[in-house]
Amino acid sequence: MKKLNTKLAKVLLVGLCLTSTMLPAQTTTGGKKISSDLFGLFFEDINYSADGGLYAEQVQNRSFEYSPTEQKDWNPYSFWEYTTTGYSYGRISVETNTPIHPNNPHYMVLDVEHIGKEAKFSGVSGVGLTNSGFAGMVVKANERYKFSMFARQLSNLPVSFQVSLQTAKGKVLAETRFTTVSTNWEKYTADLVVSENDENANLVVLAVSEGKVALDVISLFPEKTFKNRPNGLRADLAQLLADMKPRFIRFPGGCLAHGDGLGNMYRWKNTIGPLEQRKEQRNIWGYNQTAGLGYFEFFQFCEDIGAKPLPVLPAAVSCQNSGNTWQIGGTGQRALPLSEMKEYIQEVLDLIEWANGPVTSTWGAKRAAAGHPASFNLQYVGIGNEDKITHEFEIRFKMIFDAVKAKHPEIVVIGTVGPSPDGEDFEKGWKIANDLKIPVVDEHYYTSPEWFISHQNRYDSYKRNATQVYLGEYASWGNKMQNAIAEAAYMTSLERNGDVVRMASYAPLFAKKDYTQWKTDMVFFDNTNVCLTPNYYVQKMFSANQGDYYFSNIISKDEKDANLAVSCVKDSKSGDIILKMVNFGKETKPFKINLGKFGTLSPQAEQTVLTGNADAENTLEKPNSVIPTTTVVKIKNAFDYSAPAMSLTVIRIKAKK
Ligand code: AHR
Repeated sequence: MKKLNTKLAKVLLVGLCLTSTMLPAQTTTGGKKISSDLFGLFFEDINYSADGGLYAEQVQNRSFEYSPTEQKDWNPYSFWEYTTTGYSYGRISVETNTPIHPNNPHYMVLDVEHIGKEAKFSGVSGVGLTNSGFAGMVVKANERYKFSMFARQLSNLPVSFQVSLQTAKGKVLAETRFTTVSTNWEKYTADLVVSENDENANLVVLAVSEGKVALDVISLFPEKTFKNRPNGLRADLAQLLADMKPRFIRFPGGCLAHGDGLGNMYRWKNTIGPLEQRKEQRNIWGYNQTAGLGYFEFFQFCEDIGAKPLPVLPAAVSCQNSGNTWQIGGTGQRALPLSEMKEYIQEVLDLIEWANGPVTSTWGAKRAAAGHPASFNLQYVGIGNEDKITHEFEIRFKMIFDAVKAKHPEIVVIGTVGPSPDGEDFEKGWKIANDLKIPVVDEHYYTSPEWFISHQNRYDSYKRNATQVYLGEYASWGNKMQNAIAEAAYMTSLERNGDVVRMASYAPLFAKKDYTQWKTDMVFFDNTNVCLTPNYYVQKMFSANQGDYYFSNIISKDEKDANLAVSCVKDSKSGDIILKMVNFGKETKPFKINLGKFGTLSPQAEQTVLTGNADAENTLEKPNSVIPTTTVVKIKNAFDYSAPAMSLTVIRIKAKK
């Protein structure tokens, strides 16, 4: 009895000592415990993924903050056209004297000298501004659009407005009217219900009475955003992410996180609170970021689709490629002065309080004020993005890491090991990880399909019960079937090594047609259409079919054929067994499956197959060249399967109820 108690105590002690980084070596019917957060999403505002993309705002340059630092010919007037109708005239100017908020310094002043009253003009006379959105606004018949604008009357007389959605030829599709009521900044809102479909509409804000008025944050959203959230996301793009059932979403980047020089680092506090108080800034990828899709919206979206939030904060250093120094080997890393580190570390700690703290805490109260009193259950925080591992990086990373660990031991910190699968930064980054016992580090690699096929054993030899891996960015160069299937083969190796590889996310995610800075992406889109690449389908087939136990020896294949890859996982929640078979070869290949060890399973299974020519790909014009097909199949405890050439097959077998 005494012995048993000591044993029990030991077991309990081991259980208590396990940090959140170590996965207990439990088994279910002989399976190996693997990460239940394995496949998730990487989101970065690159290729117009946020503004002009996932973020459903229709007005471009809504706060008159565009600047030549973003694009040489941009300025606060960009994407706005001075508009006069009915022989009216006046002046416009961008001013900065009395902004709504110091974070939002520019606003537009309309000085209307004369409203034309010529009998020969039958339309609405006025002076104002026209915005054509992100290459045209898409509006749908009978749908509601939420207009809002801040105005401050600068003349004694109130100023009246007509706000309308119009076709390119000037046909009014919806309109509203209002009159200013204050010489202070006030928000005016109205719903516009559109009479007909148009993919190229403009928003026209017309002062129709004489006077002087300041305008700012002129905004138009469809009412039908994802889950009808105000300040929400484009429903079709958000839904295709939700369909993937990702376990986490990493945001806001990528290089966007650490920024092009210190002044361009992504500072999360600038991205929360009322829109008019957020700080716009240059996007490292050569445009503007409104921060309208900010930290609150990212966290809310994660919650809406059941994904864990994974914010990545700069490690107090900027991108090594700052100032385009990638051209000479990336020497542009800048580090925050040590004298500013106390404040910066507090900013990191404040994020954790903002996400998880009680409503009575300073930052928890801000989350509650934004409409979310409950905790967001933040579990992961990334520090740094593929930074050059310099001495400056190392001391700052350690300061942040130590502070988070001391104050929030419950948070899993994810470190960084450079931009490549090997090399100097990789080695140095891993040394720091081992020395500091960082729970997880972020590996990145973009390479050829052949590399993915020939490196499927990469993680087999990684140390167990040590620092784990977040494969935060990876892709083979291309969006053809051969790229997607090479990635699928590799993903089976991530499942096999799911006790070491805790998380993985393909990158980048979105790319807007004609606004693409990074060629290989998971989903292409324009204002109305979406193209899901074969890579998307592979990611979805893995992500929506994750398990938390891995089983070897269930699927047999020709072990000498490197083009074949398999994995078998069990989702312990549903009891489902999930088989994945990959054939990167040019011919059909046989696999043998033996499910004997699982006891009684349902005789029916759902089989999804993605197959096509090696060079097949989808485009916005032809989006369905390659799509997976799903059928219900009958299975036995032991059966054979022939995998088509260049294919991924997922068979999901339900536990017998
Ligand atoms: O995913 C695109 C870019 O690739 C990311 O911003 C960066 O982290 C990596 O170099």
